[in-house]
Parts: sequence; C-alpha cells; structure tokens
Amino acid sequence: MSEVPGAATFRTPAEAYDRHVGRYGGELARALIDAGGVAPGRRALDVGCGPGALTTELVALLGAEQVAAVEPSTPMADTCRSRLPGVDVQVAAAEALPFGDAAFDHALAQLVVNFMSDPPAGVREMRRVTRPGGTVAAAVWDYVGEMTLLRRFWDAVVALDPSGAEEDEGRRMRFCTPDELGGLWSTAGLADVDVSAVVVAADYDGFEDLWHPFEVGVGPAGAYAAALPSERRAALKAELRRRLDVGDDPFRLTARAWIARGRVT
Ligand SMILES: C[S@@+](CC[C@H](N)C(=O)[O-])C[C@H]1O[C@@H](n2cnc3c(N)ncnc32)[C@H](O)[C@@H]1O
Repeated sequence: MSEVPGAATFRTPAEAYDRHVGRYGGELARALIDAGGVAPGRRALDVGCGPGALTTELVALLGAEQVAAVEPSTPMADTCRSRLPGVDVQVAAAEALPFGDAAFDHALAQLVVNFMSDPPAGVREMRRVTRPGGTVAAAVWDYVGEMTLLRRFWDAVVALDPSGAEEDEGRRMRFCTPDELGGLWSTAGLADVDVSAVVVAADYDGFEDLWHPFEVGVGPAGAYAAALPSERRAALKAELRRRLDVGDDPFRLTARAWIARGRVT
C-alpha cells in the first residue's frame, strides 16, 4: 500500500514513539473513550492510530472485530496491524476515510487533529462515517500550557535560539485551545459540543530515558532536535534537563490534553 500525506514526522520506529508521547497514550485513550461514551457492543474507528495506543484500549473494550483504524504512515499502520490482529487497519488519512456513511457508532482521533492537512475536512469525514446519534471525539495536547514534556522542550529551544520560536508547537499547532477545538467541532456540524480537560502522567527511569526519542527524531520536537548539529543538540539536552529539574533517578511528568466531543445528528 502506498503512503498518503500526513505521515511526515511519524515514520520513525514505533518503539521510539512508544517511549515518547506514546507513554501517555493508554491513560489518555481511556479518558477519550470515556468522553466519547464508547460502550461494549458498539463499533468504533480510530483515526490516525499510530502504533495503536487508542486502538489497544478500544479492542480491550469492544473486541478486535468491532474496531477499525486508519493511519497515513505505513510503518505505523504495519505496527498497529501486527500488535492488534483482527483489527481492520488501513493506510489512509482522515480527509478521505475509506468507509461508507454511518459505518461506525464512534469515530475517535487521539493527538491527530492538529497534524491533519485539512482539519475541517478530516472532522467532517469523521462525522460522515458515524451514524446519527453516535459521537465524534478527539484529544489534543495543551501545547501552550501544561503538556510538560513538550512545553519545557520548546521553552529550552527558544532560550537557546529565539528563532526556534517559529517551530514551537505551542505557536504552530492549530486547534489546541478549548475555544478553537470546540469551534472546529461545531463548524463540522456536530451537536452538543463539549470540550473538557484531562491530565495524564508518564513515568521515566531518568533523564536519558526521556531524551532518547528526541535523538531519534520522533514528532516535530524530535525532528527539530535530531536536525541540530551535535554541539547545539547537546546544549539543548542540558537546557531541557535543567528546566525539567530532573536527573538520573526515576521521575513522573504530567500532561494536560483537551478532549472535544460532539454528537452526530
Ligand atoms: C501524535 S501521533 C498520535 C498517534 C496515536 N493516535 C496515539 O495516540 O498514539 C499523530 C498521528 O497522526 C497521524 N496523522 C498525520 N496526519 C494525519 C491525517 N491527515 N489523518 C490521519 N492521521 C494523520 C500521524 O501519522 C501519526 O501517527
């Protein structure tokens, strides 16, 4: 299957993604499933599944036959398929979902809306494939505020090089405030739109455990770090460590996300 647009910074190994924001994925997925009102006996679609954090939780609740997933990055889709046999995983983007109208009770997207090339079209497609009475729900990080890992990373970048502010996901990412996200849901024609906050957590063995995925280039922050000359990357690593105020002992970070939910009429 050929790859489709939207996969740019997620072609890195799934194991590195798991060690990066993937650490928060299971807890976030359970909150998203809860907000979406997903219940046993229903059929759900995971849009932008990556290696399968949300898909895993959906399968645990609904069973593999009741879950489908799409993902534009071929390696990520392959990983999700191999981790979750029985799930219909297709290489596709949100903007052109390969399913008929009203095929699902729920369409969910975890940490994906801000990466879509055309978010309004992607959310309209999620609505189209969801039956009337079903729900469309998504989670996005609070990049501007309390997604500690990424916020501290970009603050460290800008402290060392003010021109790095242009890359800051807190500035670049759209639909990552409650107002803008809720507006996207309403504009897509969803009813009873609600946006709530959720705080999740991840454990690290020590700072090196946290830093490794940045070296591999996972996501926009990793792509930035991996592209730096080695001296500047070392300086960024030291600055991030200082700002997080962590060392070689285990620690925990929290991350806030916004969850939008709407009903299909
Ligand atoms: C931060 S990852 C989230 C992966 C997974 N949902 C999770 O929670 O771990 C963002 C994912 O969105 C995918 N993506 C990017 N553009 C997309 C689009 N237009 N439609 C669907 N998925 C997209 C990326 O390939 C990547 O796997």
